[in-house]
Amino acid sequence: MKRYRDIAGDGGSNIVGQVEAQLGKLRQRLASVGAVVAVVSGKGGVGKSTLAANLACCLALDGSRVGVLDADLNGPTQAKVLGVRGRRLVVTDEGVEPPRGALGVKVMSMDLLLAADATPLTWDAPVQDEAHTWRGTVEANAIREFLADTNWGTLDALVLDLPPGTDRLLTIASLVPTLGIVIVTIPSDVSHLVVRKSITVAAQTKSPVLGLVENMAGLFPGPDAAKLAADGGIPYLGSVPFDRELAVSADRGEPLVATAPERESARALQLIARAIRAALAPRAV
Ligand SMILES: Nc1ncnc2c1ncn2[C@@H]1O[C@H](COP(=O)(O)OP(=O)(O)OP(=O)(O)O)[C@@H](O)[C@H]1O
Ligand SMILES: [Mg+2]
Repeated sequence: MKRYRDIAGDGGSNIVGQVEAQLGKLRQRLASVGAVVAVVSGKGGVGKSTLAANLACCLALDGSRVGVLDADLNGPTQAKVLGVRGRRLVVTDEGVEPPRGALGVKVMSMDLLLAADATPLTWDAPVQDEAHTWRGTVEANAIREFLADTNWGTLDALVLDLPPGTDRLLTIASLVPTLGIVIVTIPSDVSHLVVRKSITVAAQTKSPVLGLVENMAGLFPGPDAAKLAADGGIPYLGSVPFDRELAVSADRGEPLVATAPERESARALQLIARAIRAALAPRAV
């Protein structure tokens, strides 16, 4: 077996060149995107995907051209929530055309690439036992390609729905330097414990932190989200009540802000979207 020191240069693959070419493509693609907003949380199941889809729809309702990238490769839900599950992807010279979901929001998700069965994505590695060590790198590459290969066209905002986990944010921030970060929590001590760390990581990215959203308010009495935001030195964007209709409409692929804008939860989402728009104002969403 050849060892790395036996190989002259990088063995002729020009890996550095390939990565630079991809990054150049990514920069070019994002040049026509006004703002990139990542919805994140170290905690799973707090409603990141639901909020990402509904906030994207709120921006679209206000006249913005919006896209959503489902950066959750192993638990993709945006195709379902935005009603494009099962659509065939069309590839042109310009890249992969993202299907338009609710309110014309453009969607790209691993769910549109994988066969419609229950097979999860597995990370390949020379030795499967070591697959976890490759995961971070492969995941970053996949997301970079997703971003760069999709023909987003001109967008006012591209919303990224991240999988749970604090480390994920660092990967994305290294790919997209000017990222507006929205952090999500629910009213529980357990969630606050983890989200506090997400706030610390968000600060390390040097990207603008747009603020903290409390989701599922009223489900149980929990700690004060406004205080969590204040303690972390980030803006508090507001609170979305627990509303079973939000879950039902997401399962139907018809985001609630589009179908029932008068509901309390939908109105809360609209206010949060406006606060995000205001925070992004210099980048003109
Ligand atoms: N405010 C809410 N009221 C009622 N149900 C909600 C609310 N927010 C989200 N849900 C529901 O809670 C469930 C989890 O939400 P979601 O998938 O958006 O969480 P997530 O943070 O993206 O999860 P993951 O960490 O797995 O990516 C979904 O069934 C969703 O419809
Ligand atoms: Mg999710």
